[in-house]
Amino acid sequence: MLIFYSITIKNLFHYLKIKIQRIYALFSNRLPKFRVFYNKSGIFDFQYYRKQYDNIYMKKLFESYKNYFRFGAAISGFLLLTEEERKKFNLPAFDLPEKALAASQFNLVVAENECKMESVYVAENSFDFSGPDRLLNFAKQNNQQMRWHTLVWHNQTPEWIFKDEKGQRVSKEVLEERLKNYIFAVGERYKNDICSVDVVNECISDKNFVLRNGEDRSLWFDILGEEYIDKAFFWAKQAFPKSSLVINDYNLEMVEGKRLGMYELLKGMKTRGVPVDTVGLQMHINIENPPVSEIEKTIELYGSLGLNVIVTEMEISVYTDKEQGNNKFDALREFTPELFEQQAKRYFEIFECFKRQAKKGILKDVVLWGISDRLSWKNYFPVEGRNDAPLLFDREGKPKPAFERLTK
Ligand code: XIL
Repeated sequence: MLIFYSITIKNLFHYLKIKIQRIYALFSNRLPKFRVFYNKSGIFDFQYYRKQYDNIYMKKLFESYKNYFRFGAAISGFLLLTEEERKKFNLPAFDLPEKALAASQFNLVVAENECKMESVYVAENSFDFSGPDRLLNFAKQNNQQMRWHTLVWHNQTPEWIFKDEKGQRVSKEVLEERLKNYIFAVGERYKNDICSVDVVNECISDKNFVLRNGEDRSLWFDILGEEYIDKAFFWAKQAFPKSSLVINDYNLEMVEGKRLGMYELLKGMKTRGVPVDTVGLQMHINIENPPVSEIEKTIELYGSLGLNVIVTEMEISVYTDKEQGNNKFDALREFTPELFEQQAKRYFEIFECFKRQAKKGILKDVVLWGISDRLSWKNYFPVEGRNDAPLLFDREGKPKPAFERLTK
């Protein structure tokens, strides 16, 4: 009983802390793009940040897989703040170990948020490229390639784009023009530096496995009609003639209906000559599901259409299927060494499958959605404030058993 109460009270404090941070971030108008500040991954516990872990730089993830695929990570804009900015925001002067890990462990990077439309497309004919530029400079300094995530998506898209001066919904012609301008503006600036582009993100509905519409939050579909997908790819081909063009989605390896829905869409696109060449599997998966065999089947299915496959946003949540959407507030869950061993085994088995599929010539890249557990978005999704431990480095930036398994 006593233990029960102490946990509950601790949780309550944690919960209040999150709310206060969130309100503070909203009203103080600080760091609008660094969403990590809106979450509760312990980002303010700076006493943990002081230690650097030199030994881990000896082994490198990307080198372990260099004969198979590029090994990438999503980089939080938070890691790339300058010293000046850190001072301004009262952050410690030293870099987090994640920054050194980002530079040394991966040969491919993607922005976790800074290349999304809401970060870049400020207003009609007005673009803010500071976030993408910053990551590109980092990539160049470290000899890394960079992906672009993402051109068209129903989330993290600025509201103005769907509205006219009176605040009414825009016409199809206007929206098409805005989208086209956007794709060309991004291509103009980055076409020589971006190896692959997520042209369309998350367009398949989870309800009926056809294109997502307005009821499912996609105004793109409602205003532009189903042909918006094809058009976005044709424009992207002109804007990024040298890059690989990707259609990206989640749960394709988890839900067979969705996998087949995407397959049908792609078959149609191929028949119409649409220049899509790669399917991106986000792979936000968990410790239990899906089985490796389903992952393998999914990669082979899209491979059978003559398409490449890449893994774009992988992490392995330690919560099981049943726990995923469960709103139980369990912020202070501690994870056992056994659980991390189990996670390591699962990472390893899945990466063995990736190697097989790379050898077959289908799988080209594997990208993890973040570096360490403390900065992972899984700390606030799908349950806000519940800590998760889905990545290869822990909450202090130290390597976990999964890192050891993959670099053996
Ligand atoms: C997530 C980021 O990790 C978070 O920081 C942000 O608050 C929300 O978006 N699918 C995607 C990614 O395509 O862009 C999402 O990234 C995770 C799900």
